[in-house]
Parts: sequence; C-alpha cells; structure tokens
Amino acid sequence: MSKNIMDYETVELDDNDSSVVIIDQTKLPGKTEIIRLHTAQEIWDAIYLLKVRGAPAIGVAAAFGIYVLAKGIVIDAGYDSVSDAEEMDFGDFYDKFREQKEYLNSSRPTAVNLSWALNRMETVCLKAGRDEKKSVPKVLKILYKEAVEIKEEDTWVCKMIGEYGLALVKPGDGILTHCNAGQLATSKYGTATAPIYLGHERGYNFKVFADETRPLLQGARLTAYELHSSGVDVTLICDNMSAMVMKNGWVNAVFVGCDRVAANGDAANKIGTSVVATVAKRYGVPFYVCAPTSTIDYDTPTGAEIKIEQRPAEEVTEMWYKERMAPEGVKVFNPAFDVTDNELITAIVTEYGVARAPFQESLAEIRLKKEAAQKNK
Ligand code: MRU
Repeated sequence: MSKNIMDYETVELDDNDSSVVIIDQTKLPGKTEIIRLHTAQEIWDAIYLLKVRGAPAIGVAAAFGIYVLAKGIVIDAGYDSVSDAEEMDFGDFYDKFREQKEYLNSSRPTAVNLSWALNRMETVCLKAGRDEKKSVPKVLKILYKEAVEIKEEDTWVCKMIGEYGLALVKPGDGILTHCNAGQLATSKYGTATAPIYLGHERGYNFKVFADETRPLLQGARLTAYELHSSGVDVTLICDNMSAMVMKNGWVNAVFVGCDRVAANGDAANKIGTSVVATVAKRYGVPFYVCAPTSTIDYDTPTGAEIKIEQRPAEEVTEMWYKERMAPEGVKVFNPAFDVTDNELITAIVTEYGVARAPFQESLAEIRLKKEAAQKNK
C-alpha cells in the first residue's frame, strides 16, 4: 500500500549525508518525489522554485541548509572531517558562513521565517565561536542543535495555533482556506489547517473549502490533497468562487496562513488572500490569520513596508497548461503575495494566544508573553 502524504516529513536533515531532505512539492499530488539538497545552489533553487515552500517550512529548510553548508565550509578548508577542525580559525569560518547565509536569504523576500531562522542560526554561531571562543567543531554541534530545535518548535507552535484556532469555531462549521498553510508548509499540522486537523481528530466534522490558488495552485495541489488524504470533508473551489460560497452561508470562518505580519497587524500572505478577506467582511464571516510568532515582524511598522515577491510571467501564462494560454508578448503582473489590511482581520491566532484589534497593542502583548515563557524555560 502506498504511504499517505501525511506520513512524510516535509523537511528533514540527513546529517550523515550532509543533506536537507524534502518532498519536491512542485510534483505533488501526482508524484511523491523525495530529493536531497547538498549544495548552496540546490538549497537556494529548492526554495526559489517552491520545491519547499510555506513560511515555516522555508525557515526549517534554511536552518538545516545553513548547517549543511557550514559543515561544507570546514571540508572546503581542507579538513578531512568536521572533528579534525579543532584549530580552524573562527573568523575564517564565520566569513564564509555569513556569505552562505546571505545567499540563502536572497532566495525569497517576503516570508520573514527565512531571515528569522538564518538570523537565529547566526546568533548561536557568533555566541559560541566569537564570544565563548568555542572551536569550530563545537560551533557546528551547536548549529545542529539549533536547527533541530527550530523544526521541533514548529510542531509545538502549530499544535498551539490549532488549539487556539479550534476554540473559535464549532462542530459542523464550514471553513474556507486559501493557498496551503498546511502540514506541507510546516513541520506538522500546518497553521491554518491546524484547527481543522485537531477538530477532525475530535469529531468536529468541518466542511472545508479550499481555494485552488492561482497561479501555482497550492490550494488544489497541496491543501486539497492533504485534507482529502486525511479524511477531512474538503471541497475544492476556484479562487473566484469564494464570494458565492460565503453568500450561500456555507462558510462560518476563514483561516489563512501568513508570510509576514507587520507590527500593526497588516498581514502578507499568498496573492488573493486580501480578496478573500474583503469578501468575508462583506458577508460577516470572521477572518482569522494564523501566525507563528516567528512570522510577526515587529521591525516592520505596516504592511506598506513589506517587500512583495514578483515572480516570472510564465507562471501565469503557461505553467500547468498543456499549451500557452495567453498571447505571446502580453504584459503580466505576478506578485506572489498581497497584504491584507488589519481592519479586515478579525483576529491573529498565534501559539501564545489570539490577538485582536488594536493589533499594535495585542501583538505587543503576545511578544511579552513569549519573552516571559522563554525566560521560564
Ligand atoms: O508561495 P508559497 O507557497 O510559499 O506561499 C505560501 C503561503 O502564502 C502560506 O499561506 C504561508 O507561507 C503560510 S504557511 C504556514
């Protein structure tokens, strides 16, 4: 019997092979292909081409990626193995580490989890190597531990978002989601799908609508696939059908993920999210953004300052089609994300609780809760 997609790890580290192991999400749902990323170019391409995608999964892949590349720095310096590099100069190691970090960080601009995870890795690297004068092999052990922790934390974070999100809905509810903020975008459960999976385990019998999510079809290829494989009642709709299902009264709540939340609660997520939020407001459907605190960018005051990734025209004109579906030479606008204004958002669901307007204050409180929890760890 073939393995269920939910039994695969989205991102793994194979330390012996020095590789990041992912499911190539561009091939789903037709083919489950596991690929190994060894080089900086392979990791960069996998993120840019959305073989691994979704803000938290990108963060985990980047953390494992920089660890794998850090090991490579030692080998490239002429040592036979990492453990032989006791005498390696930390400054030389760090210069190369930083170069690789900047390179990986350039793969996608909008999801803050990418820079968040890489900065976390750099912070422990500097603390151990520069401040505590630990040897490079010891720094590598610390980098390994941090990367594994980033992944493990993500599972806990999603579970908590699921619990807080589940408290906002009731058995039998209709739920609409956009793009894929599911298990394939995280380590487990997903963010927007976490309340759905937890509810499913507890017999809530949700009726889920998954927007197909043009142009890259994450909703059709990934969300509908995940939910259907898990036995959740899911109906796939085209992006332009959300108003109809909401007007029909079939949707009690919208749950979406996000790639970067500004300090004022404006939230960047997959292109089309703000359309769904606008429609939800029109029909009085609560609109919830599920956001791990790693996705909240307190240094970005409003959504206007969030950099939106622009992607190739071919994704709109020919990708997924047997033949090109637009005239040669036509102008194409293909932003990967849009920003939902905070006034359209009912609440932002984090692993430390639910933030409501005014978001400037409520998100600041969430930050304090997180800091207090970390102090008590
Ligand atoms: O371009 P993608 O597929 O990486 O976009 C993904 C999304 O927009 C998700 O909703 C977001 O990253 C949150 S994933 C938990």
